[in-house]
Amino acid sequence: MPGVNETLAAVVGDRHVLTDPDVRAGYERDWTGRWGGQAFCVVRPGSVEEVGGVVRACREAGAALVPQGGNSGLVGGGVPRGGGVVLSLARLNAVGEVDRATAQVTAGAGATLAALQAAAREAGLDAGLDFAARDSATVGGIVACDAGGARALRYGTARARVAGLEAVLADGSVVSRLSGLTKDNAGYDLGALLVGSEGTLGVITAVRWRTVPRLDARVTALIGVDDIAAAAGLLARLRAHAPSLESCEFFLDEGLELVLAHQHRSSPLPRAPVYVLAECTARDEPPVAELAAAGLEDAVIADDTAGREALWRLREGHTEAINAAGVPHKLDVGVPLAKLARFVDEVPHVVGEGTRTILFGHLGDGNVHVNLLGAGDRADDAVLELVLDCGGTISAEHGIGVAKAAWLERARGRAEVEAMRAVKRALDPQGLFNPGVVLP
Ligand code: MLT
Ligand code: ZN
Repeated sequence: MPGVNETLAAVVGDRHVLTDPDVRAGYERDWTGRWGGQAFCVVRPGSVEEVGGVVRACREAGAALVPQGGNSGLVGGGVPRGGGVVLSLARLNAVGEVDRATAQVTAGAGATLAALQAAAREAGLDAGLDFAARDSATVGGIVACDAGGARALRYGTARARVAGLEAVLADGSVVSRLSGLTKDNAGYDLGALLVGSEGTLGVITAVRWRTVPRLDARVTALIGVDDIAAAAGLLARLRAHAPSLESCEFFLDEGLELVLAHQHRSSPLPRAPVYVLAECTARDEPPVAELAAAGLEDAVIADDTAGREALWRLREGHTEAINAAGVPHKLDVGVPLAKLARFVDEVPHVVGEGTRTILFGHLGDGNVHVNLLGAGDRADDAVLELVLDCGGTISAEHGIGVAKAAWLERARGRAEVEAMRAVKRALDPQGLFNPGVVLP
């Protein structure tokens, strides 16, 4: 791509066009090690105007653009597939002042979730979204993937937190909806279209974020149960008796075994086939009585920060423990709760012998993270086949990326995928943004 480096350097400055293979490497492969490829260069604009300039330069050069935030994605949607320019949003990391009257804040696409959470907390509020990669995942990527996490049960996914956004379109123009108006139905909601578009329709540069009240009195319970049906029964009791419920997660004994070994610790509770981790929150007093009312009096219960974090590490530590054991196939899926027991039982059988299967996830959302170690080529397809047979979704919170693009039509049907293609053609006629992602 002769000349494009010079054009990009003229837009962002020499030192923000990274061509050295060693420097590029951290942007070229995803966190799991499974997805990635060589980029032509990595460009790091420092303002929305520079993002516009980068998009125009790449458009003129015919270079594909891969928008990237914290590179914490798990489906290959934020890393190059061979060629193209990685557009890192890392420098757009400002978090503005929280507007306490509207409980909103504007964050740059490159701000980490942890930075957004800290700003909200400082103002007596909470981001209303949380997951283990909070220190690296960035606001732009979170919104582009419509990330979910452990608090979606109460606050919804990222989509519910977006009051508006700013983005650069394929012609380099900027659309800005950052006023945060609660009611604004003037025309199509282009911002909403970009939520969950995985960098294929435009580059999100800033987000107007809706925070939620800060509830610091937290109590966390971890309990072992016999099977998924018992876990679902517990969830039902929590929903009925614990209006303060914020998270309800699950993992299995195989996962706990791996995490305990990785973290060099012993189990805080008697071993069981399935574990449920629930957290309730309130403003002043940890709502312990609500957990008891839901039948969790035999659980390990913690209402102090260190104790709660120790319990959460067992759940959140799954990702790292699995990665330390090999390069996993990761399938983030969702199934109706009524089918969850069947799904969890059948996955180890459909993936084939010799595959180590670790399942965990967000029980309250029917969201299962299927992790396969030593899996053959057919294992992913077998799991996705089972998901559809259970009436579920092939992606709940990680996105389609390249990992599941070939499955999109099976999952959503031809008519919907054709409508998606029409939107893509209208907004990105040259196919500049993230080719191969979402739509194969
Ligand atoms: C989680 O819930 O821990 C994340 O989605 C990460 C993962 O699936 O590995
Ligand atoms: Zn998750």
